[in-house]
Amino acid sequence: MTTPYLVGNWKMNTTLEEAQQLAEAAVSLSENVGSKVDIGIAPPYPWLVPLRDTVGNSNVRLGAQDCSSNDNGAYTGDVSASMLAPYADFTIIGHSERRAHHHESDNIVKTKIGKALAAGMDVILCVGESAEEREAGNANRIVQSQLEGALDGMDASDVSHLTVAYEPVWAIGTGKAATPDDAAEMSRFIREQLVSRVGTAGDGVRILYGGSANDANAASFLAAEAVDGLLIGGASLKIPAFTAMVEAAAQRD
Ligand code: PGA
Repeated sequence: MTTPYLVGNWKMNTTLEEAQQLAEAAVSLSENVGSKVDIGIAPPYPWLVPLRDTVGNSNVRLGAQDCSSNDNGAYTGDVSASMLAPYADFTIIGHSERRAHHHESDNIVKTKIGKALAAGMDVILCVGESAEEREAGNANRIVQSQLEGALDGMDASDVSHLTVAYEPVWAIGTGKAATPDDAAEMSRFIREQLVSRVGTAGDGVRILYGGSANDANAASFLAAEAVDGLLIGGASLKIPAFTAMVEAAAQRD
Protein backbone atom coordinates (compact mmCIF):
# COMPACT_ATOMS: atom_id res chain seq x y z
CA MET A 1 0.00 0.00 0.00
CA THR A 2 1.29 3.49 -0.84
CA THR A 3 2.04 6.12 1.77
CA PRO A 4 -1.11 8.23 2.25
CA TYR A 5 -0.77 11.82 1.03
CA LEU A 6 -2.81 14.55 2.74
CA VAL A 7 -2.73 17.99 1.17
CA GLY A 8 -4.27 21.18 2.54
CA ASN A 9 -5.56 23.50 -0.17
CA TRP A 10 -5.94 26.79 1.68
CA LYS A 11 -7.44 28.60 -1.33
CA MET A 12 -7.64 32.40 -0.86
CA ASN A 13 -7.60 32.21 2.92
CA THR A 14 -5.28 33.01 5.86
CA THR A 15 -3.41 36.04 7.09
CA LEU A 16 0.35 35.66 7.15
CA GLU A 17 0.18 34.96 10.86
CA GLU A 18 -2.47 32.25 10.43
CA ALA A 19 -0.49 30.76 7.56
CA GLN A 20 2.59 30.56 9.74
CA GLN A 21 0.65 28.87 12.54
CA LEU A 22 -0.83 26.31 10.15
CA ALA A 23 2.56 25.61 8.59
CA GLU A 24 4.21 25.20 12.00
CA ALA A 25 1.45 22.77 12.98
CA ALA A 26 2.05 20.81 9.76
CA VAL A 27 5.78 20.60 10.51
CA SER A 28 5.23 19.24 13.99
CA LEU A 29 2.59 16.81 12.71
CA SER A 30 5.01 15.51 10.11
CA GLU A 31 7.62 14.99 12.84
CA ASN A 32 5.05 12.99 14.82
CA VAL A 33 3.86 10.74 12.02
CA GLY A 34 7.27 10.31 10.39
CA SER A 35 7.20 8.36 7.16
CA LYS A 36 3.67 7.03 7.72
CA VAL A 37 1.99 10.02 6.03
CA ASP A 38 3.12 12.55 3.43
CA ILE A 39 1.79 16.02 4.20
CA GLY A 40 1.41 18.90 1.75
CA ILE A 41 0.19 22.46 2.21
CA ALA A 42 -0.80 24.86 -0.57
CA PRO A 43 -1.00 28.45 0.73
CA PRO A 44 -1.76 31.57 -1.33
CA TYR A 45 1.16 32.68 -3.53
CA PRO A 46 2.64 35.44 -1.30
CA TRP A 47 2.94 33.11 1.68
CA LEU A 48 5.07 30.63 -0.26
CA VAL A 49 8.15 32.76 0.27
CA PRO A 50 8.03 33.09 4.08
CA LEU A 51 6.65 29.56 4.51
CA ARG A 52 9.60 28.08 2.64
CA ASP A 53 11.60 29.03 5.76
CA THR A 54 8.93 27.78 8.16
CA VAL A 55 8.83 24.41 6.41
CA GLY A 56 12.63 24.32 6.23
CA ASN A 57 14.10 20.84 5.97
CA SER A 58 11.02 19.11 7.31
CA ASN A 59 9.11 16.56 5.24
CA VAL A 60 6.19 18.94 4.68
CA ARG A 61 5.70 19.56 0.98
CA LEU A 62 4.98 23.16 0.09
CA GLY A 63 2.81 23.80 -2.96
CA ALA A 64 1.20 26.50 -5.08
CA GLN A 65 -2.46 26.43 -6.06
CA ASP A 66 -1.92 27.14 -9.76
CA CYS A 67 0.66 28.49 -12.21
CA SER A 68 0.53 30.41 -15.47
CA SER A 69 0.38 28.65 -18.81
CA ASN A 70 2.94 31.19 -20.07
CA ASP A 71 6.64 31.59 -19.31
CA ASN A 72 6.73 35.38 -18.85
CA GLY A 73 5.50 38.59 -20.45
CA ALA A 74 2.41 40.81 -20.46
CA TYR A 75 0.12 38.63 -18.31
CA THR A 76 -0.93 40.94 -15.50
CA GLY A 77 -1.62 39.11 -12.26
CA ASP A 78 -0.22 35.76 -13.40
CA VAL A 79 2.71 33.92 -11.83
CA SER A 80 4.89 31.58 -13.87
CA ALA A 81 6.01 28.11 -12.90
CA SER A 82 9.67 29.16 -12.93
CA MET A 83 8.89 31.96 -10.42
CA LEU A 84 7.21 29.45 -8.11
CA ALA A 85 9.67 26.59 -8.39
CA PRO A 86 12.31 27.99 -5.98
CA TYR A 87 9.67 27.94 -3.24
CA ALA A 88 7.10 25.30 -4.21
CA ASP A 89 7.64 21.54 -4.36
CA PHE A 90 4.40 21.05 -6.24
CA THR A 91 1.46 22.91 -7.69
CA ILE A 92 -2.22 22.10 -7.93
CA ILE A 93 -3.48 22.40 -11.52
CA GLY A 94 -6.99 22.21 -12.98
CA HIS A 95 -8.90 22.80 -9.74
CA SER A 96 -12.61 23.11 -10.54
CA GLU A 97 -12.63 26.66 -9.14
CA ARG A 98 -10.02 27.63 -11.77
CA ARG A 99 -11.96 25.79 -14.47
CA ALA A 100 -15.21 27.55 -13.44
CA HIS A 101 -14.05 31.08 -12.58
CA HIS A 102 -11.18 31.39 -15.05
CA HIS A 103 -12.59 29.27 -17.90
CA GLU A 104 -9.61 26.94 -17.91
CA SER A 105 -9.94 24.31 -20.62
CA ASP A 106 -8.28 20.89 -20.58
CA ASN A 107 -5.84 22.31 -23.10
CA ILE A 108 -4.79 25.10 -20.72
CA VAL A 109 -4.54 22.56 -17.91
CA LYS A 110 -2.28 20.44 -20.10
CA THR A 111 -0.05 23.44 -20.92
CA LYS A 112 0.22 24.37 -17.25
CA ILE A 113 1.20 20.80 -16.33
CA GLY A 114 3.98 20.97 -18.91
CA LYS A 115 5.24 24.29 -17.50
CA ALA A 116 5.16 23.06 -13.91
CA LEU A 117 7.03 19.84 -14.72
CA ALA A 118 9.60 21.68 -16.82
CA ALA A 119 10.24 24.05 -13.89
CA GLY A 120 10.85 21.06 -11.60
CA MET A 121 7.61 21.03 -9.61
CA ASP A 122 5.35 18.04 -9.01
CA VAL A 123 1.73 18.37 -10.06
CA ILE A 124 -1.60 17.57 -8.42
CA LEU A 125 -4.07 17.39 -11.30
CA CYS A 126 -7.70 17.87 -10.25
CA VAL A 127 -10.52 16.19 -12.14
CA GLY A 128 -14.19 15.73 -11.31
CA GLU A 129 -17.72 15.95 -12.63
CA SER A 130 -20.56 18.37 -11.83
CA ALA A 131 -23.83 17.29 -10.19
CA GLU A 132 -25.68 17.45 -13.54
CA GLU A 133 -23.02 15.34 -15.21
CA ARG A 134 -23.25 12.71 -12.48
CA GLU A 135 -27.05 12.69 -12.54
CA ALA A 136 -26.95 12.18 -16.31
CA GLY A 137 -24.69 9.15 -15.82
CA ASN A 138 -21.70 10.92 -17.40
CA ALA A 139 -19.28 11.10 -14.47
CA ASN A 140 -16.80 8.56 -15.88
CA ARG A 141 -16.93 10.03 -19.36
CA ILE A 142 -16.18 13.55 -18.04
CA VAL A 143 -13.29 12.40 -15.86
CA GLN A 144 -11.92 10.33 -18.74
CA SER A 145 -11.97 13.32 -21.09
CA GLN A 146 -10.34 15.58 -18.47
CA LEU A 147 -7.55 13.03 -18.03
CA GLU A 148 -7.13 12.59 -21.76
CA GLY A 149 -7.02 16.34 -22.34
CA ALA A 150 -4.58 17.02 -19.52
CA LEU A 151 -2.22 14.10 -19.99
CA ASP A 152 -2.13 13.91 -23.76
CA GLY A 153 1.47 13.37 -24.82
CA MET A 154 2.84 13.16 -21.27
CA ASP A 155 6.12 11.21 -21.06
CA ALA A 156 6.08 8.09 -18.91
CA SER A 157 9.12 9.61 -17.13
CA ASP A 158 6.99 12.56 -15.96
CA VAL A 159 4.36 10.33 -14.41
CA SER A 160 6.37 9.91 -11.19
CA HIS A 161 5.80 13.65 -10.60
CA LEU A 162 2.04 13.37 -10.93
CA THR A 163 -0.75 12.99 -8.36
CA VAL A 164 -4.40 12.98 -9.42
CA ALA A 165 -7.14 14.36 -7.16
CA TYR A 166 -10.70 13.24 -7.83
CA GLU A 167 -12.84 16.15 -6.70
CA PRO A 168 -16.50 15.94 -7.67
CA VAL A 169 -17.57 19.57 -8.10
CA TRP A 170 -20.80 19.03 -6.14
CA ALA A 171 -18.83 17.91 -3.08
CA ILE A 172 -16.41 20.86 -2.89
CA GLY A 173 -17.19 23.25 -0.05
CA THR A 174 -20.76 21.96 0.21
CA GLY A 175 -20.51 19.68 3.23
CA LYS A 176 -21.87 16.89 0.98
CA ALA A 177 -18.91 14.57 0.53
CA ALA A 178 -19.06 11.69 -1.92
CA THR A 179 -19.42 8.28 -0.31
CA PRO A 180 -16.20 6.35 0.22
CA ASP A 181 -17.57 3.74 -2.21
CA ASP A 182 -18.09 6.38 -4.93
CA ALA A 183 -14.61 7.79 -4.30
CA ALA A 184 -13.08 4.31 -4.46
CA GLU A 185 -14.97 3.41 -7.62
CA MET A 186 -13.83 6.58 -9.40
CA SER A 187 -10.26 6.11 -8.14
CA ARG A 188 -10.19 2.64 -9.67
CA PHE A 189 -11.52 4.07 -12.94
CA ILE A 190 -8.84 6.81 -12.89
CA ARG A 191 -6.18 4.15 -12.24
CA GLU A 192 -7.37 2.13 -15.26
CA GLN A 193 -7.27 5.23 -17.42
CA LEU A 194 -3.76 6.12 -16.25
CA VAL A 195 -2.42 2.64 -16.85
CA SER A 196 -4.00 2.51 -20.29
CA ARG A 197 -2.36 5.86 -21.16
CA VAL A 198 1.11 5.48 -19.64
CA GLY A 199 1.47 1.77 -18.87
CA THR A 200 2.63 0.40 -15.55
CA ALA A 201 4.01 3.81 -14.48
CA GLY A 202 0.33 4.66 -13.88
CA ASP A 203 0.27 2.17 -11.00
CA GLY A 204 2.56 4.45 -8.97
CA VAL A 205 0.43 7.61 -9.26
CA ARG A 206 -1.33 8.53 -6.04
CA ILE A 207 -5.04 9.20 -6.43
CA LEU A 208 -6.56 11.48 -3.79
CA TYR A 209 -10.17 12.22 -2.96
CA GLY A 210 -11.28 15.83 -2.35
CA GLY A 211 -14.62 17.45 -1.55
CA SER A 212 -15.84 18.12 2.00
CA ALA A 213 -13.30 15.72 3.46
CA ASN A 214 -13.07 16.38 7.20
CA ASP A 215 -12.06 14.87 10.51
CA ALA A 216 -15.36 12.96 10.77
CA ASN A 217 -15.11 11.20 7.40
CA ALA A 218 -11.34 11.00 6.72
CA ALA A 219 -10.88 7.52 8.18
CA SER A 220 -13.67 6.07 6.03
CA PHE A 221 -12.13 7.46 2.83
CA LEU A 222 -8.68 6.29 3.85
CA ALA A 223 -10.04 2.81 4.60
CA ALA A 224 -10.83 2.45 0.89
CA GLU A 225 -7.72 0.86 -0.57
CA ALA A 226 -8.13 2.64 -3.90
CA VAL A 227 -7.97 6.09 -2.23
CA ASP A 228 -4.35 7.12 -1.58
CA GLY A 229 -5.02 10.32 0.32
CA LEU A 230 -7.07 13.51 0.53
CA LEU A 231 -7.07 17.02 -0.91
CA ILE A 232 -8.60 19.07 1.87
CA GLY A 233 -10.01 22.59 1.62
CA GLY A 234 -12.00 23.98 4.56
CA ALA A 235 -10.90 21.41 7.14
CA SER A 236 -7.22 22.08 6.39
CA LEU A 237 -7.62 25.60 7.83
CA LYS A 238 -8.45 24.20 11.27
CA ILE A 239 -5.44 22.80 13.08
CA PRO A 240 -7.41 20.28 15.23
CA ALA A 241 -9.33 18.92 12.20
CA PHE A 242 -6.24 18.64 9.98
CA THR A 243 -4.32 17.01 12.84
CA ALA A 244 -7.06 14.43 13.35
CA MET A 245 -7.09 13.65 9.62
CA VAL A 246 -3.33 13.15 9.46
CA GLU A 247 -3.49 10.96 12.57
CA ALA A 248 -6.25 8.89 10.95
CA ALA A 249 -4.00 8.44 7.91
CA ALA A 250 -1.10 7.36 10.13
CA GLN A 251 -3.28 4.58 11.52
CA ARG A 252 -4.13 3.15 8.12
CA ASP A 253 -2.41 -0.19 7.63
P1 PGA B 1 -13.32 21.36 0.56
O1 PGA B 1 -12.42 21.74 -0.69
O2 PGA B 1 -12.56 20.34 1.37
O3 PGA B 1 -13.51 22.67 1.30
O4 PGA B 1 -14.60 20.80 0.02
C1 PGA B 1 -11.64 20.77 -1.34
C2 PGA B 1 -10.91 21.38 -2.52
O5 PGA B 1 -11.50 22.23 -3.21
O6 PGA B 1 -9.74 21.05 -2.79
